[in-house]
Amino acid sequence: MSIVMVKLPDASYGVSVRSGLIRGAGQVIRELSTRARVGVVTDDRVAPHFLDTLVASLRAEKFDVVSVVLPSGEEHKTLASVGRIFDELLPHKWERTFPLIALGGGVIGDMTGFAAASILRGVPFIQMPTTLLAMVDASVGGKTGVNHATGKNLIGAFHQPIAVLADVEALRTLPPREFRSGLAECIKHDVIADADGFNRLEKTIDAIVKQDDPELLGQLVTHNVMIKASVVERDPFEHGIRAHLNFGHTFGHGIEKASGYQMLHGECVALGMVAACDVAVRRGLLADSSRRRVVELIARAGLPTKGLTLPTDAILDAMGSDKKVRDGKLRFVLPDRIGNVIIKSDVEPSMVRDAIEALR
Ligand SMILES: NC(=O)c1ccc[n+]([C@@H]2O[C@H](COP(=O)([O-])OP(=O)(O)OC[C@H]3O[C@@H](n4cnc5c(N)ncnc54)[C@H](O)[C@@H]3O)[C@@H](O)[C@H]2O)c1
Ligand SMILES: [Zn+2]
Repeated sequence: MSIVMVKLPDASYGVSVRSGLIRGAGQVIRELSTRARVGVVTDDRVAPHFLDTLVASLRAEKFDVVSVVLPSGEEHKTLASVGRIFDELLPHKWERTFPLIALGGGVIGDMTGFAAASILRGVPFIQMPTTLLAMVDASVGGKTGVNHATGKNLIGAFHQPIAVLADVEALRTLPPREFRSGLAECIKHDVIADADGFNRLEKTIDAIVKQDDPELLGQLVTHNVMIKASVVERDPFEHGIRAHLNFGHTFGHGIEKASGYQMLHGECVALGMVAACDVAVRRGLLADSSRRRVVELIARAGLPTKGLTLPTDAILDAMGSDKKVRDGKLRFVLPDRIGNVIIKSDVEPSMVRDAIEALR
Protein backbone atom coordinates (compact mmCIF):
# COMPACT_ATOMS: atom_id res chain seq x y z
CA MET A 1 0.00 0.00 0.00
CA SER A 2 1.26 3.45 -0.77
CA ILE A 3 -0.18 6.94 -0.67
CA VAL A 4 1.13 9.68 -2.93
CA MET A 5 0.13 13.18 -1.83
CA VAL A 6 -0.87 15.72 -4.47
CA LYS A 7 -0.37 19.20 -2.99
CA LEU A 8 -2.12 22.04 -4.79
CA PRO A 9 -2.76 25.66 -3.76
CA ASP A 10 -6.47 25.11 -3.11
CA ALA A 11 -6.61 21.36 -2.50
CA SER A 12 -4.45 18.48 -1.35
CA TYR A 13 -5.36 14.86 -1.66
CA GLY A 14 -3.90 11.41 -1.44
CA VAL A 15 -3.68 8.84 -4.19
CA SER A 16 -3.89 5.43 -2.49
CA VAL A 17 -2.54 2.50 -4.45
CA ARG A 18 -3.37 -0.93 -3.09
CA SER A 19 -4.85 -4.34 -3.91
CA GLY A 20 -8.35 -4.83 -2.56
CA LEU A 21 -9.28 -1.15 -2.30
CA ILE A 22 -12.65 -1.70 -3.98
CA ARG A 23 -13.58 -4.34 -1.37
CA GLY A 24 -12.42 -2.05 1.42
CA ALA A 25 -13.65 1.25 -0.02
CA GLY A 26 -16.48 1.73 2.51
CA GLN A 27 -14.14 2.17 5.44
CA VAL A 28 -11.75 4.44 3.55
CA ILE A 29 -14.58 6.63 2.29
CA ARG A 30 -16.21 6.72 5.73
CA GLU A 31 -13.05 8.41 6.98
CA LEU A 32 -13.47 11.06 4.29
CA SER A 33 -17.20 11.66 4.68
CA THR A 34 -19.61 11.49 7.60
CA ARG A 35 -22.56 12.02 5.30
CA ALA A 36 -25.47 9.65 4.74
CA ARG A 37 -25.43 9.35 0.97
CA VAL A 38 -22.95 8.80 -1.87
CA GLY A 39 -23.34 8.51 -5.62
CA VAL A 40 -21.41 5.95 -7.67
CA VAL A 41 -21.04 6.49 -11.42
CA THR A 42 -19.69 3.66 -13.55
CA ASP A 43 -20.12 2.10 -16.99
CA ASP A 44 -21.75 -1.10 -18.19
CA ARG A 45 -18.43 -2.94 -18.72
CA VAL A 46 -16.99 -2.07 -15.33
CA ALA A 47 -20.22 -2.58 -13.38
CA PRO A 48 -20.43 -6.40 -13.76
CA HIS A 49 -16.92 -6.80 -12.28
CA PHE A 50 -16.89 -4.31 -9.41
CA LEU A 51 -20.11 -2.41 -8.75
CA ASP A 52 -21.75 -4.91 -6.37
CA THR A 53 -18.54 -5.23 -4.35
CA LEU A 54 -18.18 -1.47 -4.01
CA VAL A 55 -21.84 -0.90 -3.14
CA ALA A 56 -21.78 -3.68 -0.51
CA SER A 57 -18.67 -2.18 1.08
CA LEU A 58 -20.30 1.28 1.20
CA ARG A 59 -23.56 -0.08 2.60
CA ALA A 60 -21.65 -1.91 5.32
CA GLU A 61 -20.58 1.56 6.47
CA LYS A 62 -24.22 2.73 6.45
CA PHE A 63 -23.98 4.80 3.30
CA ASP A 64 -27.13 5.13 1.26
CA VAL A 65 -25.83 4.50 -2.29
CA VAL A 66 -27.30 5.80 -5.55
CA SER A 67 -25.59 4.21 -8.55
CA VAL A 68 -25.63 5.37 -12.15
CA VAL A 69 -24.50 2.97 -14.89
CA LEU A 70 -23.69 4.66 -18.19
CA PRO A 71 -22.90 2.99 -21.52
CA SER A 72 -19.15 2.34 -21.92
CA GLY A 73 -17.06 4.10 -24.56
CA GLU A 74 -15.56 7.40 -25.64
CA GLU A 75 -18.58 8.05 -27.90
CA HIS A 76 -20.70 8.35 -24.76
CA LYS A 77 -18.46 11.00 -23.17
CA THR A 78 -21.10 13.65 -23.82
CA LEU A 79 -23.21 16.28 -22.13
CA ALA A 80 -26.15 13.90 -22.58
CA SER A 81 -24.42 11.31 -20.35
CA VAL A 82 -23.64 13.98 -17.76
CA GLY A 83 -27.31 14.95 -17.99
CA ARG A 84 -28.20 11.38 -17.04
CA ILE A 85 -26.03 11.67 -13.94
CA PHE A 86 -27.95 14.83 -12.97
CA ASP A 87 -31.30 13.18 -13.72
CA GLU A 88 -30.56 10.12 -11.62
CA LEU A 89 -28.99 11.89 -8.62
CA LEU A 90 -30.94 15.12 -8.17
CA PRO A 91 -34.29 13.47 -7.35
CA HIS A 92 -32.52 12.07 -4.26
CA LYS A 93 -32.31 15.58 -2.77
CA TRP A 94 -28.59 15.87 -3.29
CA GLU A 95 -26.76 18.04 -0.77
CA ARG A 96 -23.52 19.90 -1.31
CA THR A 97 -21.64 17.54 1.02
CA PHE A 98 -22.73 14.25 -0.62
CA PRO A 99 -19.74 12.82 -2.52
CA LEU A 100 -19.73 11.41 -6.04
CA ILE A 101 -17.50 8.41 -6.75
CA ALA A 102 -16.21 7.65 -10.26
CA LEU A 103 -15.65 3.89 -10.70
CA GLY A 104 -14.12 3.27 -14.11
CA GLY A 105 -11.67 4.47 -16.72
CA GLY A 106 -10.87 8.00 -17.83
CA VAL A 107 -14.20 8.42 -19.59
CA ILE A 108 -16.17 7.83 -16.38
CA GLY A 109 -13.66 9.84 -14.33
CA ASP A 110 -13.84 12.87 -16.63
CA MET A 111 -17.66 12.85 -16.77
CA THR A 112 -18.21 12.20 -13.08
CA GLY A 113 -15.72 14.91 -12.19
CA PHE A 114 -17.54 17.35 -14.44
CA ALA A 115 -20.90 16.39 -12.90
CA ALA A 116 -19.36 16.81 -9.43
CA ALA A 117 -18.04 20.25 -10.41
CA SER A 118 -21.48 21.39 -11.51
CA ILE A 119 -24.03 19.73 -9.19
CA LEU A 120 -24.92 22.46 -6.65
CA ARG A 121 -21.81 24.29 -7.99
CA GLY A 122 -19.55 21.59 -6.64
CA VAL A 123 -19.82 18.42 -4.56
CA PRO A 124 -16.89 16.30 -3.28
CA PHE A 125 -15.48 13.92 -5.84
CA ILE A 126 -13.63 10.61 -5.34
CA GLN A 127 -11.81 8.80 -8.14
CA MET A 128 -11.68 5.00 -8.22
CA PRO A 129 -9.82 4.39 -11.49
CA THR A 130 -10.03 0.90 -13.01
CA THR A 131 -7.85 1.33 -16.11
CA LEU A 132 -4.08 1.81 -16.13
CA LEU A 133 -4.51 5.08 -18.03
CA ALA A 134 -6.96 6.41 -15.46
CA MET A 135 -4.70 5.34 -12.56
CA VAL A 136 -1.49 6.90 -13.85
CA ASP A 137 -2.90 9.87 -15.73
CA ALA A 138 -6.59 10.82 -15.92
CA SER A 139 -7.48 10.56 -12.22
CA VAL A 140 -4.71 12.91 -11.08
CA GLY A 141 -4.77 16.61 -11.86
CA GLY A 142 -8.39 17.67 -11.69
CA LYS A 143 -9.15 18.02 -15.40
CA THR A 144 -12.75 16.97 -16.02
CA GLY A 145 -15.09 17.28 -18.97
CA VAL A 146 -16.80 15.88 -22.03
CA ASN A 147 -16.41 15.87 -25.81
CA HIS A 148 -18.33 18.05 -28.24
CA ALA A 149 -19.19 17.39 -31.89
CA THR A 150 -16.42 19.86 -32.84
CA GLY A 151 -13.70 18.20 -30.78
CA LYS A 152 -12.56 16.19 -27.78
CA ASN A 153 -12.62 17.56 -24.24
CA LEU A 154 -13.82 20.99 -25.36
CA ILE A 155 -16.25 21.38 -22.45
CA GLY A 156 -15.03 20.98 -18.91
CA ALA A 157 -13.77 22.34 -15.64
CA PHE A 158 -10.94 21.90 -13.19
CA HIS A 159 -12.32 20.03 -10.17
CA GLN A 160 -9.84 18.21 -7.94
CA PRO A 161 -10.90 14.97 -6.26
CA ILE A 162 -10.77 14.69 -2.46
CA ALA A 163 -9.12 11.28 -2.87
CA VAL A 164 -8.02 8.81 -5.52
CA LEU A 165 -8.30 5.10 -4.66
CA ALA A 166 -6.49 2.90 -7.18
CA ASP A 167 -7.11 -0.83 -6.71
CA VAL A 168 -4.48 -2.53 -8.89
CA GLU A 169 -6.42 -5.82 -8.72
CA ALA A 170 -8.92 -4.20 -11.07
CA LEU A 171 -6.29 -4.28 -13.80
CA ARG A 172 -6.62 -8.07 -14.08
CA THR A 173 -9.89 -7.79 -15.99
CA LEU A 174 -8.79 -4.90 -18.19
CA PRO A 175 -8.57 -5.95 -21.87
CA PRO A 176 -4.84 -6.27 -22.77
CA ARG A 177 -5.13 -3.70 -25.54
CA GLU A 178 -6.46 -1.13 -23.03
CA PHE A 179 -3.71 -2.07 -20.56
CA ARG A 180 -0.98 -1.55 -23.14
CA SER A 181 -2.53 1.75 -24.14
CA GLY A 182 -2.01 2.91 -20.54
CA LEU A 183 1.62 1.78 -20.68
CA ALA A 184 2.25 4.43 -23.34
CA GLU A 185 1.66 7.14 -20.69
CA CYS A 186 4.02 5.31 -18.29
CA ILE A 187 6.80 5.27 -20.89
CA LYS A 188 6.05 8.93 -21.59
CA HIS A 189 6.44 9.84 -17.91
CA ASP A 190 9.88 8.25 -17.66
CA VAL A 191 11.12 9.78 -20.91
CA ILE A 192 10.10 13.29 -19.81
CA ALA A 193 11.15 13.08 -16.18
CA ASP A 194 12.95 10.01 -14.88
CA ALA A 195 15.93 8.23 -16.46
CA ASP A 196 16.18 5.76 -13.54
CA GLY A 197 12.49 4.94 -13.91
CA PHE A 198 13.12 4.28 -17.60
CA ASN A 199 16.01 1.89 -16.78
CA ARG A 200 13.76 0.06 -14.31
CA LEU A 201 10.92 -0.19 -16.79
CA GLU A 202 13.29 -1.74 -19.33
CA LYS A 203 13.95 -4.51 -16.78
CA THR A 204 10.33 -5.07 -15.67
CA ILE A 205 8.27 -4.51 -18.82
CA ASP A 206 8.01 -8.20 -19.81
CA ALA A 207 6.53 -9.09 -16.41
CA ILE A 208 4.32 -6.00 -16.33
CA VAL A 209 2.57 -6.79 -19.61
CA LYS A 210 1.28 -10.03 -18.05
CA GLN A 211 -1.02 -7.84 -15.88
CA ASP A 212 -1.07 -10.32 -13.00
CA ASP A 213 1.56 -9.25 -10.46
CA PRO A 214 -0.13 -6.86 -7.99
CA GLU A 215 3.19 -5.96 -6.35
CA LEU A 216 4.78 -4.93 -9.63
CA LEU A 217 1.62 -3.17 -10.83
CA GLY A 218 1.43 -1.30 -7.52
CA GLN A 219 5.01 -0.09 -7.96
CA LEU A 220 4.31 0.93 -11.55
CA VAL A 221 1.19 2.91 -10.65
CA THR A 222 2.79 4.56 -7.59
CA HIS A 223 5.87 5.61 -9.56
CA ASN A 224 3.79 7.10 -12.36
CA VAL A 225 1.38 8.90 -10.05
CA MET A 226 4.42 10.48 -8.38
CA ILE A 227 5.64 11.83 -11.71
CA LYS A 228 2.21 13.11 -12.80
CA ALA A 229 1.60 14.63 -9.35
CA SER A 230 4.91 16.45 -9.29
CA VAL A 231 4.28 17.98 -12.72
CA VAL A 232 0.71 18.97 -11.81
CA GLU A 233 1.85 20.45 -8.48
CA ARG A 234 4.32 22.68 -10.24
CA ASP A 235 1.71 23.83 -12.78
CA PRO A 236 -1.88 23.20 -11.62
CA PHE A 237 -3.55 25.20 -14.43
CA GLU A 238 -1.38 24.21 -17.37
CA HIS A 239 0.51 27.45 -17.91
CA GLY A 240 4.00 26.00 -18.28
CA ILE A 241 5.75 22.75 -17.39
CA ARG A 242 2.55 20.69 -17.54
CA ALA A 243 2.98 20.92 -21.31
CA HIS A 244 5.80 18.36 -20.91
CA LEU A 245 3.05 15.77 -20.44
CA ASN A 246 2.19 16.38 -24.09
CA PHE A 247 5.31 14.50 -25.22
CA GLY A 248 4.12 12.27 -28.10
CA HIS A 249 0.72 13.96 -28.04
CA THR A 250 1.11 16.59 -30.81
CA PHE A 251 1.69 13.83 -33.37
CA GLY A 252 -0.47 11.42 -31.32
CA HIS A 253 -3.58 13.58 -31.32
CA GLY A 254 -3.20 14.13 -35.06
CA ILE A 255 -3.01 10.38 -35.68
CA GLU A 256 -5.91 9.72 -33.29
CA LYS A 257 -8.13 12.26 -35.01
CA ALA A 258 -7.12 11.16 -38.53
CA SER A 259 -7.97 7.56 -37.57
CA GLY A 260 -11.50 8.72 -36.71
CA TYR A 261 -10.72 7.65 -33.12
CA GLN A 262 -10.50 4.02 -34.24
CA MET A 263 -7.02 3.64 -32.72
CA LEU A 264 -6.66 3.81 -28.95
CA HIS A 265 -5.17 6.95 -27.42
CA GLY A 266 -2.08 5.13 -26.11
CA GLU A 267 -1.42 3.51 -29.49
CA CYS A 268 -1.41 6.96 -31.10
CA VAL A 269 0.77 8.39 -28.34
CA ALA A 270 3.19 5.48 -28.89
CA LEU A 271 3.55 6.41 -32.57
CA GLY A 272 3.67 10.08 -31.55
CA MET A 273 6.58 9.44 -29.19
CA VAL A 274 8.45 7.60 -31.95
CA ALA A 275 7.89 10.58 -34.29
CA ALA A 276 8.92 13.12 -31.63
CA CYS A 277 12.13 11.18 -30.91
CA ASP A 278 12.77 11.09 -34.65
CA VAL A 279 12.44 14.90 -34.84
CA ALA A 280 14.68 15.25 -31.77
CA VAL A 281 17.39 13.19 -33.48
CA ARG A 282 17.03 15.09 -36.78
CA ARG A 283 17.38 18.36 -34.84
CA GLY A 284 20.57 17.09 -33.23
CA LEU A 285 19.01 17.18 -29.74
CA LEU A 286 18.86 13.48 -28.97
CA ALA A 287 21.40 10.69 -29.47
CA ASP A 288 20.18 8.05 -31.90
CA SER A 289 21.04 5.34 -29.35
CA SER A 290 18.54 6.92 -26.92
CA ARG A 291 15.88 7.09 -29.61
CA ARG A 292 16.40 3.39 -30.28
CA ARG A 293 15.96 2.56 -26.58
CA VAL A 294 12.65 4.43 -26.47
CA VAL A 295 11.38 2.75 -29.64
CA GLU A 296 12.40 -0.67 -28.35
CA LEU A 297 10.65 -0.18 -25.00
CA ILE A 298 7.46 0.94 -26.76
CA ALA A 299 7.58 -2.19 -28.93
CA ARG A 300 8.18 -4.46 -25.92
CA ALA A 301 5.12 -2.90 -24.25
CA GLY A 302 3.11 -4.29 -27.19
CA LEU A 303 2.51 -0.87 -28.70
CA PRO A 304 2.93 0.16 -32.35
CA THR A 305 6.15 1.86 -33.48
CA LYS A 306 5.43 1.74 -37.22
CA GLY A 307 2.91 0.37 -39.72
CA LEU A 308 0.98 3.63 -40.02
CA THR A 309 -1.33 3.62 -43.06
CA LEU A 310 -3.24 6.88 -42.62
CA PRO A 311 -2.58 9.68 -45.16
CA THR A 312 0.11 12.11 -43.99
CA ASP A 313 -1.95 15.16 -45.02
CA ALA A 314 -4.89 14.04 -42.91
CA ILE A 315 -2.58 13.75 -39.89
CA LEU A 316 -0.99 17.15 -40.56
CA ASP A 317 -4.44 18.77 -40.88
CA ALA A 318 -5.58 17.18 -37.65
CA MET A 319 -2.40 18.31 -35.87
CA GLY A 320 -3.02 21.88 -37.02
CA SER A 321 -6.48 21.93 -35.47
CA ASP A 322 -5.31 20.71 -32.06
CA LYS A 323 -6.58 22.92 -29.25
CA LYS A 324 -3.05 23.31 -27.88
CA VAL A 325 -1.83 25.14 -31.00
CA ARG A 326 -0.70 28.59 -29.87
CA ASP A 327 -0.46 31.60 -32.25
CA GLY A 328 -0.77 29.19 -35.17
CA LYS A 329 2.45 27.43 -34.15
CA LEU A 330 2.69 23.76 -33.31
CA ARG A 331 4.65 23.17 -30.13
CA PHE A 332 6.66 19.98 -29.92
CA VAL A 333 7.89 18.42 -26.71
CA LEU A 334 11.24 16.86 -27.60
CA PRO A 335 13.62 14.82 -25.44
CA ASP A 336 17.26 15.91 -25.33
CA ARG A 337 18.07 12.77 -23.34
CA ILE A 338 16.02 10.08 -21.64
CA GLY A 339 14.56 11.79 -18.57
CA ASN A 340 14.38 15.36 -19.89
CA VAL A 341 12.42 17.27 -22.53
CA ILE A 342 12.35 20.75 -24.02
CA ILE A 343 9.63 22.56 -25.97
CA LYS A 344 10.27 23.70 -29.53
CA SER A 345 7.82 25.70 -31.64
CA ASP A 346 10.12 26.16 -34.64
CA VAL A 347 10.26 22.64 -36.08
CA GLU A 348 10.37 22.85 -39.89
CA PRO A 349 7.19 21.55 -41.56
CA SER A 350 9.27 19.26 -43.80
CA MET A 351 10.78 17.61 -40.74
CA VAL A 352 7.33 17.04 -39.26
CA ARG A 353 6.21 15.46 -42.52
CA ASP A 354 9.33 13.25 -42.69
CA ALA A 355 8.78 12.05 -39.14
CA ILE A 356 5.22 10.97 -40.03
CA GLU A 357 6.40 9.27 -43.24
CA ALA A 358 9.00 7.38 -41.21
CA LEU A 359 6.18 5.73 -39.23
CA ARG A 360 5.06 3.75 -42.28
N1 LIG B 1 -8.58 14.21 -17.10
C1 LIG B 1 -7.38 13.95 -17.57
O1 LIG B 1 -6.39 14.55 -17.15
C2 LIG B 1 -7.22 12.91 -18.62
C3 LIG B 1 -5.95 12.45 -18.96
C4 LIG B 1 -5.84 11.45 -19.90
C5 LIG B 1 -6.97 10.93 -20.51
N2 LIG B 1 -8.20 11.41 -20.17
C6 LIG B 1 -9.42 10.87 -20.78
O2 LIG B 1 -9.53 9.51 -20.43
C7 LIG B 1 -10.31 8.84 -21.42
C8 LIG B 1 -9.69 7.50 -21.72
O3 LIG B 1 -9.67 6.74 -20.55
P1 LIG B 1 -9.49 5.15 -20.57
O4 LIG B 1 -8.37 4.81 -21.46
O5 LIG B 1 -9.45 4.72 -19.17
O6 LIG B 1 -10.79 4.66 -21.36
P2 LIG B 1 -12.24 4.16 -20.89
O7 LIG B 1 -12.70 4.87 -19.71
O8 LIG B 1 -13.08 4.23 -22.12
O9 LIG B 1 -11.98 2.64 -20.53
C9 LIG B 1 -11.56 1.74 -21.54
C10 LIG B 1 -12.47 0.52 -21.64
O10 LIG B 1 -12.16 -0.39 -20.59
C11 LIG B 1 -13.35 -0.72 -19.86
N3 LIG B 1 -12.87 -0.97 -18.49
C12 LIG B 1 -12.45 -0.04 -17.60
N4 LIG B 1 -11.91 -0.63 -16.53
C13 LIG B 1 -12.03 -1.96 -16.72
C14 LIG B 1 -11.63 -3.10 -15.95
N5 LIG B 1 -10.95 -2.98 -14.81
N6 LIG B 1 -11.91 -4.32 -16.44
C15 LIG B 1 -12.55 -4.45 -17.65
N7 LIG B 1 -12.92 -3.42 -18.42
C16 LIG B 1 -12.65 -2.19 -17.96
C17 LIG B 1 -14.26 0.45 -20.06
O11 LIG B 1 -15.61 0.09 -19.90
C18 LIG B 1 -13.95 0.84 -21.50
O12 LIG B 1 -14.66 0.00 -22.38
C19 LIG B 1 -10.38 9.77 -22.61
O13 LIG B 1 -11.68 10.28 -22.71
C20 LIG B 1 -9.40 10.87 -22.27
O14 LIG B 1 -9.79 12.13 -22.80
C21 LIG B 1 -8.34 12.38 -19.24
ZN1 LIG C 1 -2.37 10.92 -23.14
